[in-house]
Amino acid sequence: MSAGMIRLVKHPDGSEGHPTDPGSYDEIYAELPLLHPTPRSWAELAASHLPEFLADHAVCEQQVAMYGLSLAGYYPDDAELVERAAALAAEEVQHFRRVVAILTKRGWPLGGRRKNVWAQSLRARIVPGREPWTKVDRLLFGAMVEARSCERFTRLLEVLDDPEVTHLLADLGPAERRHWEMFYRLAGRGMDEKALAARFQGWREFEAELARSLGTSPAVHGWG
Ligand SMILES: [Fe+2]
Ligand SMILES: [Fe+2]
Repeated sequence: MSAGMIRLVKHPDGSEGHPTDPGSYDEIYAELPLLHPTPRSWAELAASHLPEFLADHAVCEQQVAMYGLSLAGYYPDDAELVERAAALAAEEVQHFRRVVAILTKRGWPLGGRRKNVWAQSLRARIVPGREPWTKVDRLLFGAMVEARSCERFTRLLEVLDDPEVTHLLADLGPAERRHWEMFYRLAGRGMDEKALAARFQGWREFEAELARSLGTSPAVHGWG
């Protein structure tokens, strides 16, 4: 898919999204702005290391909640961004709590902070102090994180044999898909559509290259 093909529609509740319901991995992947699909081998690895995957997943949810709040802090004069970012943070805290509840119930340890080369490398691409591009890039970074998370959950669902975690990821995948679309839309406010797509293309290519270079790991942003 090219960035120029990203088309959102207005739902009856006023939110924006894709016209189709969540479907198979291939259908969902085709709608995501990703240029490198996760191999099934990663999903098999993550499914066979569920305690490690979920511990890492919990931290991802926690960190994206904190990122949402940090965005609100960077741009206090942007009322729409503050509201959307705060709502996102609240939703991600709920995701965090759901993952933690499963870990706790099963007696699996919560991992806490750990190195995430994928996320750190992506975030390092944001250059502070170069507005308006810094703001656009902060939002496009969020879009990439959410899109890859949606893709990972969808991939994992293909091989998972655990009803409770399946239920969790089936809920979270569509939420993260909605989030990437929200970030992308916020980034594009007041901006030429083609310029936004061109800027995003740089992120998409960088992310795909990064994804290709990652080592094998059952973490959310590890590879297989
Ligand atoms: Fe989430
Ligand atoms: Fe999200």
